[in-house]
Amino acid sequence: MQFVCHSAYGLAVTATGSTSRARTYALLHYSDPTPAARQWRLVNLVVLGIGLLSVVLLSIDELDEAWQSTLRLVIWAVSAVFLVEYLLRLWVAPETPRYDQDTPLKARLRWAASLPGVIGLLAVLPALMFAGRYAVTGVDTASVFCILWILKIGLHAPAFGTLGRVISNERAPIASVLILFVILLLIAATAAHMFERARQPEQFGSLPAAMWWAVVTLTTTGYGDVVPLTAGGRFVGGLLMLSGIVVLALMTGVLATGFAQEERRREYLRVWEQVARVPLFASLGVVTLSEIVGKLRTRYYPSRIVVVRRGDAGDSMFFISSGEVEVRLPTGQSVTLGEGAFFGEMALLERQLRSATVFTTRPTTLLVLYASDFYEIASHIPQLAEAVEVEARRRRNENIERGESLAKR
Ligand code: CMP
Repeated sequence: MQFVCHSAYGLAVTATGSTSRARTYALLHYSDPTPAARQWRLVNLVVLGIGLLSVVLLSIDELDEAWQSTLRLVIWAVSAVFLVEYLLRLWVAPETPRYDQDTPLKARLRWAASLPGVIGLLAVLPALMFAGRYAVTGVDTASVFCILWILKIGLHAPAFGTLGRVISNERAPIASVLILFVILLLIAATAAHMFERARQPEQFGSLPAAMWWAVVTLTTTGYGDVVPLTAGGRFVGGLLMLSGIVVLALMTGVLATGFAQEERRREYLRVWEQVARVPLFASLGVVTLSEIVGKLRTRYYPSRIVVVRRGDAGDSMFFISSGEVEVRLPTGQSVTLGEGAFFGEMALLERQLRSATVFTTRPTTLLVLYASDFYEIASHIPQLAEAVEVEARRRRNENIERGESLAKR
């Protein structure tokens, strides 16, 4: 299941091996949510930002020679960083799941010939040219490479993949809206051509010429370079403007729904992946598990963040998918809970205020289950509710004993 989820959505896959190559693969894999991978992405974006800024500044003619050489040096340095990244990606290519049947050499060749490989190589060409003593001299050259840098980042960025999946999932409604766009365009251009060609032969004398006006009007851009002058032409123009608003609203709706659905699907897979790490859920069948997964929400907490505070009202419980929390008991003592454990169940079951303060001791991923969902699940899966209740009882007794032994001292 894990593999299906991953391969369908391009999330981090199988890089669990402890070899340095597997670790580097995980680091370079942008959709991997580990802190190191995030930091690497940040570094990459900063380097890209510096590079792009340098390219933009280099296009200013008034810049003196010293500044120009500095900027060229920066562009070269950015390319050098991307060159190192390219070589690393080439090295870790055998870790890519879809190349796992290939020899390392074949995997690397396949990666080098793939779209990310080709763009990655083109993006580092300035560095290679510099090494070959063909320094990047013209702004035009630099601009071309700067476009490739953006493409390179885009290809690996999760957002790019999301956009691709949204377009692919929503291709039928998108195609319908586009067809509607084309129909309106042709009808309006033809009508305007008939009404206007006698008065404005240059602007409306042919259908392609009239279509320029129709596109500008339908997209609600309205440059105003071509305007209908006859009453009929203006009537068509008015209708086209109104239709343009409707078409754009339709397209916005389709894309917004697509993005929302995609986000829900990703969240579902993320939660599924996290749920598998909680022992309490391990014995449940796929159907029951999918019911629970639909109700859990993942939350990422940095280190030393209070998740629940003693005395607050509690409407949810938490499962620790990764990381660690510390429970600060009213006695002043602390209990540490690690991966797979849960907390926050006592207020939920006993409908009381939170009995202790719980905070993260390191970056932690929690699965949140709200009270209403807990009771719904409990009615279907009594064994789960029972396991939670047993643990809540044990903790309550333990806290009472701790309090009593402290009072005796
Ligand atoms: P709740 O009272 O909702 O909020 C604080 C949580 O701390 C509590 O639920 C338990 O989940 C947890 N907790 C309280 N006492 C202990 C304990 N002795 N050991 C582990 N966890 C505890």
